[in-house]
Amino acid sequence: MNIPLVDLKAQFNSIKDEINEAIQRVLQSGQFILGPEVRAFEEEMATYCGTRFAVGVASGTDALHLALLACGIKPGDEVITSPFTFIATTEAITNCGAIPVFVDIDPRTYNINPAQIEPKITPKTKAIIPVHLYGQPANMEPILELGKRHNLKIIEDCAQALGAEYKVRKVGSIGDAGCLSFFPAKNLGAYGDGGMVVTNNPKVAEIVEMLRKHGSKISYYHLLPGFNSRLDTLQAAILRVKLKHLDDWNQLRCSKASFYTQLLSQLDGIEPPYIEKHNIPSCNYYTVRLKDSRLNRNELRKHLESKGIQTMVYYPLSLHLQEAYKSLGYKLGDFPESEQAQEQVLSLPMYPELGEEQIEQIVETIKNFCEQQIRASV
Ligand SMILES: Cc1ncc(COP(=O)(O)O)c(C=O)c1O
Repeated sequence: MNIPLVDLKAQFNSIKDEINEAIQRVLQSGQFILGPEVRAFEEEMATYCGTRFAVGVASGTDALHLALLACGIKPGDEVITSPFTFIATTEAITNCGAIPVFVDIDPRTYNINPAQIEPKITPKTKAIIPVHLYGQPANMEPILELGKRHNLKIIEDCAQALGAEYKVRKVGSIGDAGCLSFFPAKNLGAYGDGGMVVTNNPKVAEIVEMLRKHGSKISYYHLLPGFNSRLDTLQAAILRVKLKHLDDWNQLRCSKASFYTQLLSQLDGIEPPYIEKHNIPSCNYYTVRLKDSRLNRNELRKHLESKGIQTMVYYPLSLHLQEAYKSLGYKLGDFPESEQAQEQVLSLPMYPELGEEQIEQIVETIKNFCEQQIRASV
């Protein structure tokens, strides 16, 4: 058995001709920086996300960083987010000179728990970054309400959730800005790095557009100190091809997720993902939880690996416990739900081309492991 966590080759082989044609088009055009391909992709993405504007940048990390700057985040400001996310979320905050302030997660969805946000709001708080983790939208309504009441910007981290919907609204179109990643393993993955800020706010779009291009609108006239963070033209052309398939791929992912859930629900001790009724997830990752103390997550990982099944732990150490953030002064015990999740979650292979037989084999392997472990414990 050899089942990878993600299979990018299978996807490439299914769209090879379209991709080669798009690459040739760019090579023949001689335009490799911004230009009509990037503009066309931005327009298509704005339409897809249901926003007025979309600005392509060099990565999802940069999308978050530039969106925060465009929303006016300054050194010393506080930005509230979840400790159970990829560090890019908080790098964007610290790269503005601002301070990440963590709020624990809802243990069912792994997303920030809105009920715990308000006590963390101080006069220095300027924004909240809800992360739509694993592709499931965060609970946006109470977050938007807090934003309105306390005059805070809401910046959605949609890196794992492109195409997902919260109450019939696409993620990215709900807050002041949405930040997308085109990292190869995402729902819409480039063949390299890429990212995007989507927004309905013309000022935010205008500032991100300047920041990505050395702070200028006209070359060599710089209105702001900026960055070199343009979405690569070749990547834009590739992503335009892939965007046409995105909804089909997301549906395939979610039907594979339902099949996993149907099979796993028959096992004791393995908790499939919980999806809120009002959400349509993007199913970027399929993440289960081992809540039974007789089952060890790391042992299950090893067992699956020994059978040729690749898995991953997103994330093994919550951000408040990372060496990089020692100076923030958090300690073990500060965010119990996040700390428990880091010990119990396991992401199983998930990609649109994953076969049902493969899912059956994965679940069978998990079942054997659980039975062995439970037998050994009595
Ligand atoms: C939740 C989250 N935020 C931000 C990022 C950063 O995106 P990128 O890798 O494109 O910089 C990622 C991607 O890995 C992510 O998973």
